[in-house]
Amino acid sequence: MTGELIIAPSILAADFARLGEEVAAIDAAGADWIHCDVMDGHFVPNISFGADVIKAIRPVTTKVFDVHLMIAPADPYLETFAKAGADVITVHAEAGPHLDRSLQAIRALGKKAGVSLCPATPESAIEYVLDRLDLVLVMTVNPGFGGQSFIGPQLAKIKRIRAMIGDRPIRLEVDGGVTRDNAAAVAAAGADTLVAGSAVFRGRGVAEYAANIEAIRAAAEACRVPHLQNSEQRMRISEGGLIR
Ligand code: DX5
Ligand code: ZN
Repeated sequence: MTGELIIAPSILAADFARLGEEVAAIDAAGADWIHCDVMDGHFVPNISFGADVIKAIRPVTTKVFDVHLMIAPADPYLETFAKAGADVITVHAEAGPHLDRSLQAIRALGKKAGVSLCPATPESAIEYVLDRLDLVLVMTVNPGFGGQSFIGPQLAKIKRIRAMIGDRPIRLEVDGGVTRDNAAAVAAAGADTLVAGSAVFRGRGVAEYAANIEAIRAAAEACRVPHLQNSEQRMRISEGGLIR
């Protein structure tokens, strides 16, 4: 689950009154994955949407649904999100005492397993679960809201996690305040999957979203760490089937 650069627009920044149209628009605009931010008003100080909304938009696109659960507890809801159409399910390391169990449960549902770290959480939180992971999500804002400013010192954490991942087929995703202006630094630190909400849903409609996605992609592609660009890894991901 590594290789090519993935741009994952967060639908948190979409017009919820036209959510289906917005998902179709970012699909047509070149989004690789669709990032779905689920918030419970308990783990984070905001409520967004749940599994029923994800289920409702699932028929709109065949792209990967990258579901970021900012909920605690997460375990009782994993099956519901799997059935709603999630492809990747990411839980927070801070959301419960049994991260290892949560990750096993996600894989047992046949889904890719991700873990997210809040800005104050050190990378050591995932040291002993690396082999249960398909994705690590580094939060570069405090989770709960779109449109916040990127927290610069998280770049050091991204670099350290890139080194921890080594040759494992684990994606390194960065989420929060990503724009065309900092995408290069994020990619240079080792990220291969960039979430962007407000930077993608600026303007309205396919053409504007496509320009926004392309600007982020171009900035990131220019600065990717070399070992992620070799042809063998690209081959593996295209054969792997998750990237569609
Ligand atoms: C924050 C969410 C992010 C957020 C990204 O809690 O996890 O995915 O929506 O939005 P921007 O790109 O606007 O920071
Ligand atoms: Zn997110």
